[in-house]
Amino acid sequence: MPTLNWKGKLLSPPTPATLTLDSLLFPKGRGYPKARPDGRVIFGDNFAVMAALLPEYEGRIKLIYADPPFFTNRKFQARVGRGEDSRKPSKWKMAEGYHDDWADLDAYLQFLYERLTLMHRLLAADGTLYLHLDWHANSYARLILDEVFGAENFINEIVWTYHGPSPIRTAFNRKHDTILMYSKSKDYVFNVDDIREPYNPNTLATFKASRKAGFGKIPDLERGKVPEDWWYFPVVARLHNERTGYPTQKPEALLERIILASSNKGDLVADFFCGSGTTALAAAKHGRKFITCDEAVRAIHTARARLAGTKSVFTVERDVRMKTEVASKSKKIKVKAGDGLVTLQTSLDVDFWEIDPDWNGKTFRSAAQAQRHVRSGVIPMELKIKIGGKVCIRLVTVEGKQFQLNV
Ligand SMILES: C[S@@+](CC[C@H](N)C(=O)[O-])C[C@H]1O[C@@H](n2cnc3c(N)ncnc32)[C@H](O)[C@@H]1O
Repeated sequence: MPTLNWKGKLLSPPTPATLTLDSLLFPKGRGYPKARPDGRVIFGDNFAVMAALLPEYEGRIKLIYADPPFFTNRKFQARVGRGEDSRKPSKWKMAEGYHDDWADLDAYLQFLYERLTLMHRLLAADGTLYLHLDWHANSYARLILDEVFGAENFINEIVWTYHGPSPIRTAFNRKHDTILMYSKSKDYVFNVDDIREPYNPNTLATFKASRKAGFGKIPDLERGKVPEDWWYFPVVARLHNERTGYPTQKPEALLERIILASSNKGDLVADFFCGSGTTALAAAKHGRKFITCDEAVRAIHTARARLAGTKSVFTVERDVRMKTEVASKSKKIKVKAGDGLVTLQTSLDVDFWEIDPDWNGKTFRSAAQAQRHVRSGVIPMELKIKIGGKVCIRLVTVEGKQFQLNV
């Protein structure tokens, strides 16, 4: 079997992260139900985080979706603030997103190799990996996956097609990504009936017109067809409600198909390149448990805010080596609490705020949250909540500044 080699190819044992609990989030102001968390959002480098998860999760994760940097050698920024007019890029408000720049291809391949090896260990025997890349590196990744998973465990090369503007005038517009799908064994979960889609109206008309269409085989037209390995889903564009402003956000519909196909309700789904949190969100909406991780603070913030809109109780954790600045005072922020209502007054552009109505001074238990609507820019400044003892609020501005204030 041919294998891919590069300068510095090595599997060195990872140093596990030391994870600490940052907060527990109970969505939709339901107080603190005595539920065990369904999900974990972890701030840290995924190499160290996956290593820290091994003792508990080795061989237990049913599905891993990985959407790493693509080796574009670019720095991606997040678009923040109120509404963006696509015709006036100079007016966009930007903030740090994530970096996809590398010393060289060797460094990138080594980065992928050591992480894919840990993902393979974390996957359950009937688990599946989806690795999302594009033309920059997918040909190398295919060989790495053959080595780590075994070429016999290759299942699909899925092509995700989309439209969009492009400056290219010397080649065809590059408008597809490649998702490589590998299982850990021959016995893997694939829920074919959960991902069927309606037949094309032309196909339906052909079968209606002639019983002999389809070489005499009449498919179950009502049941729908198994999708091909090329998918069309629109990219998350400016006017889409799901848009967060986080760079290279993937469509929820794409993750839904993957989750429905390759996991069952109650299964554990992981995404160690969380970004805006699309996988965790789709997992939560479909009754799956989730673990997601990112090393960019904006990604963690974006994912947490999105997940606050689901029913899932989840933890936010971090590797102790990841430091974030959290201010505990600001003249620009005033908070009033009483009579089951917490009111925020501030001149800051707030993106997200949350309340612990019975602050124990240790773990922030977020029992009510408000977030800015991306398109309208509106965020509720009052939240109803039963106040138990001391009230503590946390707040994140659109620029990414964080505050934690005792009321
Ligand atoms: C292509 S984006 C993921 C987008 C995501 N699928 C979504 O729908 O928003 C890649 C993400 O991987 C993160 N990342 C890159 N290297 C990482 C590392 N070593 N550990 C954790 N996260 C990393 C980046 O910060 C970025 O948010």
